[in-house]
Amino acid sequence: MKPFPNVCYAIFLSAEVLTGRADQAGVAPTDPPIIQIATAHSALTLRAGDDGRLYELGYGRAEKNSSTTDRPPRESEFYPQYGDGFVWEPALQAAHVDGNTSTDLRYVREDSRTLGTNVTLTRIELKDSHYPFYVTLCLERFRNEDVIEQWVEIRHQEHGVVVLRHFASSAPVFNAREYWLTQFYGDWAREATMEEEKLGPGIKILDSKLGVRASRFRFPSFALSENGPAREDSGEVIGGSLAWSGSYQLAFDMDSDNHLRALCGINPSGEAVHLEPGRIFKTPAMLWTWSAHGAGRMTRNFDRWARRYGIRDGDQPRPVLLNNWEATGFNFDEKAIVSLFDGAQAIGADVFLLDDGWFGNAHPRNDDHAGLGDWQVNTNKLPRGLSYLAAQAGRRGVKFGIWIEPEMVNPRSDLFEKHPDWAIQQPHRPLELSRNQLDLDLSNPAVQQFVRRVVDEVFGTPGVSFVKWDCNRYVTQPGSTYLPPGRQSDLLIDYNLALYNIMARMAKKYPRTMAMLCSGGGGRADYGALKYFDEMWPSDNTDPLHRVFIQWGYSYFFPAEAVCDHITRSGNRPLKFAEDVAMSGALGVDMDLRKLPPAELEQLASAVALYKKEIRDVVEQGDLYRLRSPYEHPCAALDYVSADRSRAVLFVYQVKDGDDGSVRPRGLDPQARYRVREVNLPAGANSQLAGDGRVMDGVTLMRDGLRPPCHKPCDSAVIELVKGGAMALPSDESTRPSFR
Ligand code: GLA
Repeated sequence: MKPFPNVCYAIFLSAEVLTGRADQAGVAPTDPPIIQIATAHSALTLRAGDDGRLYELGYGRAEKNSSTTDRPPRESEFYPQYGDGFVWEPALQAAHVDGNTSTDLRYVREDSRTLGTNVTLTRIELKDSHYPFYVTLCLERFRNEDVIEQWVEIRHQEHGVVVLRHFASSAPVFNAREYWLTQFYGDWAREATMEEEKLGPGIKILDSKLGVRASRFRFPSFALSENGPAREDSGEVIGGSLAWSGSYQLAFDMDSDNHLRALCGINPSGEAVHLEPGRIFKTPAMLWTWSAHGAGRMTRNFDRWARRYGIRDGDQPRPVLLNNWEATGFNFDEKAIVSLFDGAQAIGADVFLLDDGWFGNAHPRNDDHAGLGDWQVNTNKLPRGLSYLAAQAGRRGVKFGIWIEPEMVNPRSDLFEKHPDWAIQQPHRPLELSRNQLDLDLSNPAVQQFVRRVVDEVFGTPGVSFVKWDCNRYVTQPGSTYLPPGRQSDLLIDYNLALYNIMARMAKKYPRTMAMLCSGGGGRADYGALKYFDEMWPSDNTDPLHRVFIQWGYSYFFPAEAVCDHITRSGNRPLKFAEDVAMSGALGVDMDLRKLPPAELEQLASAVALYKKEIRDVVEQGDLYRLRSPYEHPCAALDYVSADRSRAVLFVYQVKDGDDGSVRPRGLDPQARYRVREVNLPAGANSQLAGDGRVMDGVTLMRDGLRPPCHKPCDSAVIELVKGGAMALPSDESTRPSFR
């Protein structure tokens, strides 16, 4: 419904368009600009129409996005707004100060700046035809990685508060015959389960309304395959990932002409932004990549981008951790922890990570009922404090790390007794607990200051080199005692923006302290938070048989170095299988090594040594090729290939009965000769791999493959392929990186 008579509206608009574009941009209205955001293989092409609106001409293969002189159809508006005649799902909906619910954005100007050889930022300014209301579409392109990052900045100079009700980060339109959408859903201990479906007319929504720990049931990334289900090595696949840790919505709106609009951003359901004049609201970034070589290339684009731009110190090796959570839970004291350090040293772990349970005195954290919020060391359990533990670990050549959950509070804590109003809550409703805890209200500056202080105290403790930042509940009663009644709908957005400020400060102030992102398993799996962290904990399910599937799902969007995979006894699987599965990510161990028979301790130590010396750099920095999916095959397989293709590591995991024949590695140099060697064999065992020790050329390996020695569930193999046959590895000392 248009709020004004059509005729006045039209006259009024054209005057504004002429003024805006001729005066401010110096562009003649008859010569609408074409804006191309081009990467090495893809392009997003936009054009301002002769009506002043900004249209999308295409996203995908660069040469397909040619210009057109006709005014594009209204359905292809690039950032459509509610109320100006656009009748589908809008990217933006605002209520202006006078109550007008329509917005009518017209192109003003575009500006592109080079931010280094690989990165260009294009800012396209739009302005409402009547109101002093401005939207800047920001598009940063990463040329070599074929990644485009889009966010939107909204501001105004109206006399009062404008309420934003829809504020997508990005809303491109696709034009294909069919669309196949893959999502990554689940719950605690079964994260990143993959499901692909063909989209039909109407709106399909993937979302989270959890506010905090928002990826619990689904992470905000998807793959969209055009004209058929996604294949690994061929076909056009678009990857999307929203860099936001709060509630999100990914809405796929298909019209009767088969256009598909993907509206991606903060979930507008229940959330709104009250925008004062002069303030800029910046949406989270949406990351896009386009691949003409299936989901495999989509992943490699994201991985390369993430290592360079998306995660902390992405070019550095990740430490091998020994964590005590599965070994001791809350039940430990100083003597027990110190006794675990010997095991850390024995297996060659880089860092010992002391998990939950080290804090709280009046309300000791002996289980999950008490203590959150009281971040003082428990003097009964650890009388000489954290620095003593760090020093003891240091004496054994192991660094020391610690767990925190600074956004949370147990009602049984000093903090809650003193500040019950600091918890997120709603008036007249009994407090709902989850894992016996509440979320702190980070929209409140006093709470922000408290959390900053906790971060300073923990990160500033002498000897602490690593921190695991956890977050174990989502929000079910989104209310703030701090925000006024009319601003309650801003709470979860304000929360996450404040959280990012605290995380950004942490990453900057403590550059030498490594950090793991965790959220009751994988409840925070997004590039919004990950950019302040070295790695993340993907799931509390460490049974390696289940982990093959969980890691498979994460692998679509996150590089192996960012996904912590620990060897544990969960599921009672063979130790070798647990090792082989964990070695395809950022390796760690979570076991009570005091209880391990000497032969197994030795086996573990040699797996860690092998990983550090021969595998870690290829897995963490190499290109991933998913070869056989555990969803479709009894025997899953993947390989990582170093950038210069001189080394590759092939992982094979039998997940159920059945014979899949040979595994064909990919990504090798076809001309080169590689020595084939099965590694991580139990002491004294000989490889059963046909071809073990042989030198074969890349083309033969990729054509004929290798027959893995895997026959029954939980059989596995790790096979190294080294160019030239020679193992040109550095000496033991230099392979041990000095972690910050
Ligand atoms: C969460 C994490 C676990 C562990 C516990 C401690 O569940 O995912 O790894 O740290 O909290 O309470």
